Amino acid sequence: MNVLDTGFVKGFMNMCEAGFNMGWHERNGGNLSYRIKEEEIAEIKDMLSDGEWRDIGTCVPLLSGEYFLVTGSGRFFSNVKTNPEETIGIIKIDETGERYKTVWGLKGSRPTSELPTHLMNHEVKKKVTNGAHRVIYHAHTTNIIALTFVLPLEDSVFTHKLWEMATECPVVFPDGVGVVKWMVPGGRDIAEATMEKMKEYDLAVWAHHGMFASGPDFDTTFGLMHTAEKSAEILVKVMSVNSPMIQTITDEDLIKLAGEFGVTLNEKFIRKDGNPSGSSRNGD
Ligand code: 13P
Ligand code: ZN
Repeated sequence: MNVLDTGFVKGFMNMCEAGFNMGWHERNGGNLSYRIKEEEIAEIKDMLSDGEWRDIGTCVPLLSGEYFLVTGSGRFFSNVKTNPEETIGIIKIDETGERYKTVWGLKGSRPTSELPTHLMNHEVKKKVTNGAHRVIYHAHTTNIIALTFVLPLEDSVFTHKLWEMATECPVVFPDGVGVVKWMVPGGRDIAEATMEKMKEYDLAVWAHHGMFASGPDFDTTFGLMHTAEKSAEILVKVMSVNSPMIQTITDEDLIKLAGEFGVTLNEKFIRKDGNPSGSSRNGD
């Protein structure tokens, strides 16, 4: 079977296009990776070639022998559909989890510079979800980035604000959101810091840079990114109108909502004093 005719490659390319249409992928901004299923690789085995082993820059032994579809470094999401073999590609991880080789695509390119973060996130998510999560997505989401300049860089602050600004948020990400302070992107240190957050959350904010999302499939992962970013957009608007916030979704409401939808909210983000989670001043 032709690689470009497979369902997972089509789904991957659709997600790149959708992200670009949201305005989250200026130039080569953002990257995407998918942990390919055994049966999906079996379908295209004949189309794969043998590449040269290269260092990943970190160690992911739990992913040894796995195949990933990834975006290329310096490649634009806007070009993925028209030029797939140059912009995306399939890599295989060696048996030690320290090296990868390209077996399809990525002509004239290499995997995203954020490969260490993608693979460390995949490794931790494979473990904590019993293999259910397969997609890691990094996007330059404008409103979340804006908030990292004006809110304290704390998991509790970002989680509570995002939950509070849109009714669906506590249901869509009941575990909350992790926040990673500004760090140099592309290396092992930021990958480790992000992976620590991903042990507990499906979303990690990178201060002044963007977000990482994890999920079982393309739609769920994209939907998660979209939901959090939309909530951030609402908060930016509320803070921008410079008028006191006179009502909000209270912590009591959040608890009721969780009860109705059968989700368990991460307790540490619920205020114990019973006060409404809103405040008299915007952005507090
Ligand atoms: P790449 O082009 O290497 O994927 O980098 C884009 C990016 O968003 C870095 O954080
Ligand atoms: Zn980035």
